[in-house]
Amino acid sequence: MQKVITIDGPSGSGKGTVAKILSQKLGWNLLDSGALYRLVAFGALKHGIALDDEPALSEFALKLDVKFVLQEGSELLIPVFEGEDVAKQIRTEECGAAASKVAALNPVRDALLDRQRAFATDAGLIADGRDMGTVVFPDAPVKIYLNASAEERAERRYNQLKLSGESVSIAAILNEIRTRDERDMNREVAPLKPADDAIEIDSTSLTIDQVVARISEALSN
Ligand code: CDP
Repeated sequence: MQKVITIDGPSGSGKGTVAKILSQKLGWNLLDSGALYRLVAFGALKHGIALDDEPALSEFALKLDVKFVLQEGSELLIPVFEGEDVAKQIRTEECGAAASKVAALNPVRDALLDRQRAFATDAGLIADGRDMGTVVFPDAPVKIYLNASAEERAERRYNQLKLSGESVSIAAILNEIRTRDERDMNREVAPLKPADDAIEIDSTSLTIDQVVARISEALSN
């Protein structure tokens, strides 16, 4: 059986943090698939590729020059893109919005498929994204769909951005979250939705530790 746990959900549902904790706890690999879409968007902006130029974007996605490197002294994986540490640069709201645009293009998604599947080794994998359980790893034995109210997610994102020194209003973030949800859920390819066999967890009033405990419980069943 595949040693893969998929964690899907919308922006700010806590899936990134939960995925990181689980991968450290279990000693399994971590796939942050959103980072790949963010890197395609970041690279497109850097190289002047239009965000709707499907052939150029998919070719770029296929050849994406990125390595995920373990940061010294921590267990964090840093994306090194075209030789440069871009961990901070790809986390901006601008890059998130552009990522959601390129992620709606089927050829771009196809171009990233093999690269994502290559993360699943015998070591085990925690796969974080939007379509991990529905498209990329449909045979994963444990699938989680993590959600939370848009207001709660906007507040979490606001606090995260404040910590990294980005100044954006909470109203603007809520607006951005709603626009991105709408685009991610209503696109034709790989729309954001729970897999039929996913365990759904609403984290609106749960702490990260409580979410991890629920998933650990599901794992032991
Ligand atoms: O961190 P946050 O949840 O805000 O976003 P992310 O996971 O880094 O993903 C950025 C964007 O990439 C999302 O809004 C999706 O449009 C897209 N994405 C996707 O389509 N499929 C995935 N497996 C992961 C991300």
